[in-house]
Amino acid sequence: MKALKIAPSILACNYARVEEEIRRVEAAGVEMLHVDIMDGHFVPNISFGPEFVAMLRRTTTLPLDVHLMIEQPDRYVRSFIEAGADILTIHLEAYHDVERTLGTIKDMGCKSGLAINPMTMFQHATKHLKNIDLFLCMTVNPGFGGQSFMVDVLDKVRQAKAYREEKNLSYDIEVDGGLGEGTICPAFAAGANVIVAGTSIFGKLDATAAVASLRSKAAEISAAG
Ligand code: DX5
Ligand code: ZN
Repeated sequence: MKALKIAPSILACNYARVEEEIRRVEAAGVEMLHVDIMDGHFVPNISFGPEFVAMLRRTTTLPLDVHLMIEQPDRYVRSFIEAGADILTIHLEAYHDVERTLGTIKDMGCKSGLAINPMTMFQHATKHLKNIDLFLCMTVNPGFGGQSFMVDVLDKVRQAKAYREEKNLSYDIEVDGGLGEGTICPAFAAGANVIVAGTSIFGKLDATAAVASLRSKAAEISAAG
């Protein structure tokens, strides 16, 4: 079982107090910060740009796990890496040459991730998995926080774990959307080791307790073996 990493999604934070919100999750001991970039085309919402990522970079030393939910990621890879992204995840379904975009991310010395939406079959992603650092199985339709977890996606998480072992690959498996106390166990048991959580962390007054609760739930799975 790969080590659990908890990545609070900044999309769910109080935008009027971003720095305070970051300090809350730093104090809670999270492994990285998940940053949702939305362009209003690939998803029906607009969020942040490279300047926001640059501000986060100046504000925290936490690794920035930047999730590009944008139609033409190849046009913005350089901007987000120069802004400070540590992991840059692109969508299989976006309008670009996936291999070329992943290659550019790696050539710039950034970790690369590939994301698939709930309705996308795992088989459509396998040809891109050999060199990536992170594979993201969306557990909601992308665009908004606070949605319900789509448990059927865990079949793909299991497939991704089996494929990684079969091909002796090393990518982390991330799930994103609707993760909380009630859903982290099946997700972690299925093989997801990077847990994105927005509402279930930033939506709580005590982020430290929320993160500790998520960890203890996942620890039950590890203990069960
Ligand atoms: C949705 C985003 C998710 C979302 C998670 O498109 O990719 O990261 O912010 O938020 P919660 O945890 O509230 O579902
Ligand atoms: Zn995300």
